[in-house]
This record gives sequence, C-alpha cells and structure tokens, in this order.
Amino acid sequence: MAKTDTLHFILLGAPGAGKGTQAAYLNENWGLTHISTGDILRAEVRAGSALGNEAKSYMESGKLVPDQLIIDMMEEKLKTLDKGYILDGFPRTVAQAEALGEMLTRINHKLDAVVNIEVGDDELIRRLTGRRVCPKCNSVFHIYTMKPKVEGICDNCGGELIQRKDDQIDAITTRLVAFKDQTQPLIEYYQSSGKLVTVDGTIGVPAVAEKIRAALTGE
Ligand code: AP5
Repeated sequence: MAKTDTLHFILLGAPGAGKGTQAAYLNENWGLTHISTGDILRAEVRAGSALGNEAKSYMESGKLVPDQLIIDMMEEKLKTLDKGYILDGFPRTVAQAEALGEMLTRINHKLDAVVNIEVGDDELIRRLTGRRVCPKCNSVFHIYTMKPKVEGICDNCGGELIQRKDDQIDAITTRLVAFKDQTQPLIEYYQSSGKLVTVDGTIGVPAVAEKIRAALTGE
C-alpha cells in the first residue's frame, strides 16, 4: 500500500457531509493528525478565550467566522505539525484558500489533494438534526444511524452527548447558505489546480473512506 502517513489533504463538503466522521476514521487507520477548525473553535469558546468570545456568535448563528481570525489561528497550528494531516473545515473561502497556499509554501508542506464529499440537502438536514456529539473527545453519533451503545453516552470516553447549538434548523439553513455562497467556489478553485477529487458521501462510512483511500493512493 502507498505511504499514507505523510499526506496533507483537505476534506471539503457541506455541513453534515461527513468530514469529521471521515477524518476520525482515516486518522485511526492512517495515523494522520486531524485538524478540525470547528473543534478548535468550539474548544476556544468553552475556554472563554478572546478568540472563542469573538467566534461564538458567528458559530451559533451558523455564519462563518471572519477570515483573518481563522487564518491567524491556522498559521499557528500548521507551523507545529511535522507529519501528515487532514484539514477538516479549512479553507472555507477563497481568501482562506489563498492564505493556506502561502502558508504551505512558507513552511514547505505540499498539498496532496482536496477531497470533496458530496451529499444532497435533504440528507444533510437529516444528519445534522439527528447528530449528537461528545464535547470531551469530539466523537460524533447519530440518533438513528450511528447510535451510541448506551443512549446519550459517548462510546469512546463515557462523556455525556449533546446537540450542537448550530444543529438547530435555523442555524442549519444559514450554514447551508454560507456553504453555497462562500465555500462551494473552492470546488472550482481546486479543480483548476488539478487537486480535486469528488466522492459520493452517501454510501456508508467505511465505503466513503475506501473511496478516499483509493483516490489518494491511486490503488
Ligand atoms: P464545523 O464544525 O466545521 O461544522 P461544519 O462544516 O458545518 O461541519 P459539521 O461538523 O457540521 O459536519 P461534518 O461534515 O463534519 O459531518 P459529521 O462527520 O459530523 O464548523 C462549525 C462552525 O465553526 C461554522 O459554522 C463556522 O461558524 C465556524 N468555522 C469552522 N471553520 C471555519 C472556517 N474555516 N472559516 C470560518 N468559520 C469557520 O457527520 C454529520 C452526521 O452525519 C453525524 O451524525 C454522522 O454520524 C452522520 N454521518 C457521517 N457520515 C455518514 C455516512 N456516510 N452515512 C450516514 N451518516 C453519516
């Protein structure tokens, strides 16, 4: 099998497409670092940091956090990494993608691929309204399709599962609009660089992961 633990790639997709689920699955199997801007920001909000306080209202309403806050946060993070990683939720705008390109050049990291996970709106809404997450270890479940062994309790760390504030229907609608207006242009942006791979995100978690693996390793 081709070497996978040094890959640098982006998971692109609408809210609920399964970016976090796939990153966790691939992380477990490949040993890549999973960098989720959503998880980092939620930890900052919980910690009550200056960044968290600034980001909170944007996140809860489903809007994107301003580019410069995200770019500064990610520059600090990427500098500390010396092996392969999966970027989940970054970049989300063309300005962020341009900044990422400059950052990668500065730190001498190569972007191997951008994986676009495609799922239709009705399925996205079903997934997001039924999602439950563990605030302690960030594991993700679903009340119908990925139930924890004990209702309301995280299988991995025993934490109490919660529903994210932005998984209410109003915020979901805002997030889907933000995706279409601000993030979807990245599909064209990365297509023109020849790095884009699109996978069907509706076929079950292991099957999606296998498609991603095959696309990235060329096997
Ligand atoms: P973030 O946390 O990144 O949210 P998101 O992009 O909206 O993505 P989600 O976490 O909702 O979905 P996902 O694709 O990871 O799906 P998941 O795997 O959980 O960002 C939150 C907020 O932070 C943003 O709105 C914004 O305010 C801010 N932010 C973050 N990054 C930013 C940036 N770069 N710039 C500006 N602002 C930023 O799966 C969803 C559900 O589906 C789960 O229940 C799961 O069990 C289920 N599921 C997953 N895969 C499958 C499958 N194959 N089949 C069936 N069910 C599945």
